[in-house]
Amino acid sequence: MFGIEAPILAFTHCRDVAAEVSKAGGMGVLGLARISPSKLHEELNWLDSHIGGKPYGIDVLMPSVVEDTGTRKYDLDSLLPREQVNFLTKLLDDAGIPRLSESEEKRLIFDAVDHQNFTPRESLAMIDSALEHPVKLIVSALGTPPRHLIEMAHKKGIRVAALAGKVEHAIKHKEAGCDFVIAVGTEAGGHTGDIASMVLWPQIVDAVAPLPVLGAGGVGRGRQLAAALALGCEGVWCGSIWLKTVESDVPPDIKKRLLGLQSSDAVLSKSWSGKQCRVMRSSYTDAWLQPGAPKTLPSPLQAFLCFALARPRIERARAEKFLTFPVGQIVGEMNEETSVRNVVHDMLAELLESKERLDNMFG
Ligand SMILES: Cc1cc2nc3c(=O)[nH]c(=O)nc-3n(C[C@H](O)[C@H](O)[C@H](O)COP(=O)(O)O)c2cc1C
Repeated sequence: MFGIEAPILAFTHCRDVAAEVSKAGGMGVLGLARISPSKLHEELNWLDSHIGGKPYGIDVLMPSVVEDTGTRKYDLDSLLPREQVNFLTKLLDDAGIPRLSESEEKRLIFDAVDHQNFTPRESLAMIDSALEHPVKLIVSALGTPPRHLIEMAHKKGIRVAALAGKVEHAIKHKEAGCDFVIAVGTEAGGHTGDIASMVLWPQIVDAVAPLPVLGAGGVGRGRQLAAALALGCEGVWCGSIWLKTVESDVPPDIKKRLLGLQSSDAVLSKSWSGKQCRVMRSSYTDAWLQPGAPKTLPSPLQAFLCFALARPRIERARAEKFLTFPVGQIVGEMNEETSVRNVVHDMLAELLESKERLDNMFG
């Protein structure tokens, strides 16, 4: 489909990682969720000039259901309920984490609102701009892409895929005309469902056949790639593993923490975005589960709270215990920093070892 050598697609928010994966024989897919429309061309121009003519894709958040912030957009008090704001403020105050000034808080919330590319309308505008670049693949993160988008992409020779954590979602993606489906097991970092990769991948492979499927969720090494192929997938889609690379732009304090975590430290929480998301466990994620804690807000309101009111305070104070970030269960094996090229190389080497092992077993 893409003329690539390694069946490894990389989800990343970092342009350097995307370029390196494509150059190493896989394919980088750049997440646009954190890129503002005004920065989009700069990011993609950079990719175009650093990726050596190799293919790449883009990933957009296109949720089917969004909390419409509408006219409440710039009215802080009605946008974010006091209960959740007060809970968070007290939590961080009690931990001795300095407050931001009121004007900075407001600016960060309004920035978060302005930069959110979550609504279908905003996502489509981003895609239009992105297609001025030689994008080969569009991936929809949180829902079935609209049929007209798929038709428009196909006319330009661009492939479209979507993530699915359930068989029903995968079937909807197929019916809408997607070129392939990415089956995301619960092990995955970021937004994820409840079904494990081992069970989900073959279910989705069978449900959408002959459409190709990529296995995602818990893939960071060659034996997991071999398992995905054995379960009927055509390749894999990895997100967490790139966070440990030297090319990754994940903040240094977070990277340092990630390298020391175990798989059980990657927990499901709604405290990051309002949707179920696997993130590194911290005092921030624990607090929202304590008896008496308020409910997390629906997406994207919880994301405004987390991105504007929590993370800047926590990260500026370098309050290690409160740091959190999306990561999957594979984090337990992410013990040292290495290059993207090494990750790809090691995955392919271990895939071949797995094949030899099986060949020997079967004689
Ligand atoms: C830091 C991080 C951020 C993510 N953000 C997005 C996103 O914006 N869009 C998306 O489609 N998936 C996102 N994901 C999920 C990935 O697409 C993918 O499903 C997941 O990383 C695969 O499982 P793995 O983490 O075990 O490799 C993110 C994952 C991580 C680790």
